[in-house]
Amino acid sequence: MSSSRIPGFYKLSPAARREAALAAVGLPAQRGVAWASDALPLERADAMIENVVGTFALPNGVAVNLLLNGRDRLVPMVVEEPSVVAAVANMARLARESGGFTAACDESVMIGQVQVSDPAPGAAARLREAVPRLEAMCVGVHRELEALGGGLRGMEVREVVYDEPGYPREEMVVLHLFLDCRDAMGANMINTLAERLAPEVVAITGGKQGLRILSNLADRRVARARVRLDPSVFGDEGAAVAQGIAAAYRFAYADPYRAATHNKGIMNGVDAVAIATGNDWRAIEAGAHAYAARNGQYRPLTAWRVDAEGFLVGTLEMPMQVGTVGGAIRVHPTVQANLALAEVAGAADLAMLLAAVGLAQNMGALRALATEGIQEGHMRMHARTVALGAGAVGDEIPRLVNALVACHDYTVPRASALLASLRESGR
Ligand code: MEV
Repeated sequence: MSSSRIPGFYKLSPAARREAALAAVGLPAQRGVAWASDALPLERADAMIENVVGTFALPNGVAVNLLLNGRDRLVPMVVEEPSVVAAVANMARLARESGGFTAACDESVMIGQVQVSDPAPGAAARLREAVPRLEAMCVGVHRELEALGGGLRGMEVREVVYDEPGYPREEMVVLHLFLDCRDAMGANMINTLAERLAPEVVAITGGKQGLRILSNLADRRVARARVRLDPSVFGDEGAAVAQGIAAAYRFAYADPYRAATHNKGIMNGVDAVAIATGNDWRAIEAGAHAYAARNGQYRPLTAWRVDAEGFLVGTLEMPMQVGTVGGAIRVHPTVQANLALAEVAGAADLAMLLAAVGLAQNMGALRALATEGIQEGHMRMHARTVALGAGAVGDEIPRLVNALVACHDYTVPRASALLASLRESGR
């Protein structure tokens, strides 16, 4: 695409935004039908899950301005919460003045677990010895994946103990298998492999077969993003804002109660893009929080520091188990359009995009929290919803929003009264 800077994008109508966004990535305007609320046909929805009674629409926004690894990107986001899309677009606009975001990620390696309980003595050692044979058994199970350069990347044997006070102790042996799933999220492929290996693992260890399933703590599939900003992008008080953001990070590092909220803000962005691109956001959530607690205390997924030159440096690191093939991706027309709009080149590319969006989202939240607080922006967005609810149309909407913000009263009766007087004075 040429540029993700589309000045005044937020002021356009939804139809004009579709057109501008599609034009920016060189897609025909007809692709816009994919964002109609009935784009997912009922028969298709019926084939996706059980007991379908209909489909469920959510707003699909597009965040502009993102520069990632030197490339301009549009970011499709599906979310019900106001301010989430605006935060990414605003922070991306500030960041692009300092070169934008950079990101990198691991190979698409997922972990599968084969659990054996009550193993016979020496089971773990025997299983370790058998790893080459077990690895050989995996060859050819996923031929297509192997042809694409993916496949098994090794195994590990772990000894795990259940030791909860007041209950009998249990020992188990767990085989971890590592599978590079390339552009797939990979849950099905990992689960198939785990089930295939389980009987042999049980025979080797002499225990009872336990679970055979992937682990969502995908710590071999981590994405990282970084941004380094000249604090002047935050205005005259920029140096103080940068210090405020770094201090907010330290609060989250020190206190799990704050870290949970800090990470929730990150997931506002990550989940919105995950949903827009047809990915399993519960898997990403599970992985994110488990990773955040990996060293024993729940910590923030980002870090913010002011460096020796006074620049604000933000980094994010979290597992990113996403795919661009399989699952709901092929069957959902809106997902296809969103992937095309973001010009997603594959799972790794999407993982990096999600990481950058998570970091931008967190930057937006911390900037607001360290300065005017989030309510000001939130209430402005909320005022829009109230104005629409009161029946405002066209240019009545921004006028009514201003009036509501000025009187700090966001109730519908107040909005209706203000709208009536606006109309009266306009006659
Ligand atoms: C609200 O959805 C998200 C925030 O609470 C995140 C944060 O506190 O960092 C604003």
